[in-house]
Amino acid sequence: MGEVTKAVILMGGPQKGTRFRPLSLEVPKPLFPLAGSPMIEHHIESCKKVPTINEVLLIGSYQYDSQIRDFVYHMMKEYKLQVRYLQEYVPMGTAGGLYHFRDQIARVVGSDTSNFFVLNSDVCCDFPLNEMIALNQETTNGMGFMIMGTKAPPDEAVNYGCIVTEPGSTKVLHYVEKPETYVSNIINAGAYLFSTEVFKHMAQVFDEHHKNDLAFPKDSISLERNVLPGLVGTSKLHVYLLNQFWSQIKSGGSAIHANRFYLSLFCKYNRDRLATNFEDHATILGDVRIHPSAYVDKTATLGPNVYVGAGVRIEAGARVKESIILDRAELKEHCCVLYSIVGWDSVVGEWSRVEGHSADPDPNDPYAHVHSGSLFNKNGQLNPGITILGRGVNVSREVIVLSTIVLPHKSLVHSKKNQIIL
Ligand code: GDD
Repeated sequence: MGEVTKAVILMGGPQKGTRFRPLSLEVPKPLFPLAGSPMIEHHIESCKKVPTINEVLLIGSYQYDSQIRDFVYHMMKEYKLQVRYLQEYVPMGTAGGLYHFRDQIARVVGSDTSNFFVLNSDVCCDFPLNEMIALNQETTNGMGFMIMGTKAPPDEAVNYGCIVTEPGSTKVLHYVEKPETYVSNIINAGAYLFSTEVFKHMAQVFDEHHKNDLAFPKDSISLERNVLPGLVGTSKLHVYLLNQFWSQIKSGGSAIHANRFYLSLFCKYNRDRLATNFEDHATILGDVRIHPSAYVDKTATLGPNVYVGAGVRIEAGARVKESIILDRAELKEHCCVLYSIVGWDSVVGEWSRVEGHSADPDPNDPYAHVHSGSLFNKNGQLNPGITILGRGVNVSREVIVLSTIVLPHKSLVHSKKNQIIL
């Protein structure tokens, strides 16, 4: 069996993350903070729990700018892992970059790297990486391929990759990406364990594309549409079924949900990252993380499920719940922020109310997921969702903003409901 010494995180690029605007206009979506840590830092933290992993490769088509450079530097320092960003010259699809950089992924430096993880950047869960390694060992003696799967209600399953398994077994018999009609309630949850043999399958797809003009750009390969069906044919593709919280992070609503989940993981594994109630300090309800440089008045009440970023000021009597307050924002006296993301450097005025509509999935269905569909209904109206204030938005005093998306640097002097403020 080959040791797993590497993990690859698929970052996407600036053309992705459209449902995450205006936040993704300011920061690459994979670096957006959830519970105070960039989205993919949670992935890297999970990789650190696999003792044999010593390198994490980030593949994407974002320019290698200071945000990515600083992140990579910080990750290497914090987790004592080799972390490298590999930039695609154009978006190459979910497998094109893996194939293009196959030598870097498969490179053996004094150890056997015949297996590696691939993680989608925009999924959120407590990645069961050690468990996937164990199941891969048990099913194929460590020589096979594995997808992390989860269950979804039948009407939601068609929005994901769908997996059919052999009855009573983990072996995958059939895989269809986003089928038109119901195929299975087991869905692809966006994490894989591959042996380097996967590159042979990618090579076949790559050659076909080049021969038959099948893809544009030529080097683009879809892991889900072009590669996974081929792996099913080897009878070595298995599914690890995740039996706990999982969510995609496509919209602001799902970011609030993921923020809540990662705060709950901190409560389990890193309690010291969360705020506690002290006499003469703000009232804290449930899981709340506050950056050490933020100021929170002792008469404010925060929580549950709140992250307060660096340099934020929260003044007397303010109330914040189920929200992400980004760096240097100011929440003035007695304002109320619920189910919202307040952008960097934004100001919410005195006695104002910024409130979103909770996107919580059906609490009676353990497999229901946050709906990340279109922002609009079939009449072209904005579906009720969380409120997002872009960078540098100014909400005047005594204004109510409900289920509204506000683009950067706007000033709101009148109340708004269910709108996009351009
Ligand atoms: N490097 C790179 N290059 N990454 C990419 C590219 C690309 O050209 N295109 C997408 N990605 C990354 C995205 O950033 C994301 O992390 C992941 O690949 C999958 O993104 P999408 O292509 O948008 O697919 P999806 O999210 O609609 O569906 C995928 O994930 C679902 C689980 O969340 C599929 O794998 C589904 O089968 C799966 O159910």
